Amino acid sequence: MSALAEAKTDIQESERDTVGEVARLNARWRTIQAERVLKLALLEEFPGHIAVSSSFGTEAAVLLHLVSRVYRATPIFFLDTEKHFPETLEYRDQLIEFLGLRDVRILKPVESEVAAEDPRGDLFGLDYDACCALRKTRPLEYALEGFDAWITGRKRYQNDDREDLPIFEADTNGKVKVNPLANWSPTDIQTYFNEHGLPRHPLEAQGYKSIGCATCTTPVAEGEDPRAGRWRDSEKTECGIHVTEDGKVIRTRLIDNR
Ligand code: ADX
Repeated sequence: MSALAEAKTDIQESERDTVGEVARLNARWRTIQAERVLKLALLEEFPGHIAVSSSFGTEAAVLLHLVSRVYRATPIFFLDTEKHFPETLEYRDQLIEFLGLRDVRILKPVESEVAAEDPRGDLFGLDYDACCALRKTRPLEYALEGFDAWITGRKRYQNDDREDLPIFEADTNGKVKVNPLANWSPTDIQTYFNEHGLPRHPLEAQGYKSIGCATCTTPVAEGEDPRAGRWRDSEKTECGIHVTEDGKVIRTRLIDNR
């Protein structure tokens, strides 16, 4: 190799190193920031009055791992819609054990409401929003009574509705909603999984990149939007727990520290 070619290769190598270094530094910084947000919310601002909501889906392990490092006895709400994939329930139990989570609360829809509104269990096929309201939104509202704040795992990159997602926002019920991973990138998530050896959702390898109820979730093709498999044949992009009654996504910015 000529001296010039060698010098060029050296420059390319060092540029590659810098790019890798910067990605690593950004991922580390986001981890520090997310931990700080969690400490602020869990230990300083709302101790005893804050819960985490987790779907135990493909990316959920990251937030749960961070929470377990700050305060393992944090109440964690899992909305059991009774329509989940069995794999999600297995994964939930695996993560509870792996992370040593001490207070995972399984929230089911209210029986009398199910009997009145979805006696045959087929409401999802007739009205997605009514089904989400019955099986997710209202059970979460009931569980959050007595709490001042709750934490979600949403990120800005996940869809257009979330592109302005702040770290702290107000929900429609007067609670503070905290999104510690709002500014994380897909690479940050994958780096975190690898660095901490976190177990994967069993359906991820089958093309399920965003996982909700089995009735309303399909796998996505390579290159397709990761959330394209959620309510695939409809305009719906969010389950009811992140929208207002008029169907709009909540956007009240309290603090924005991108
Ligand atoms: S959503 O449209 O179903 O809400 P997504 O699966 O991206 O979208 O979840 C976003 C956030 O909503 C999760 O990080 C979690 O905080 C909360 N969430 C979603 N599904 C559940 C569930 N079954 N139980 C508890 N929280 C959930």
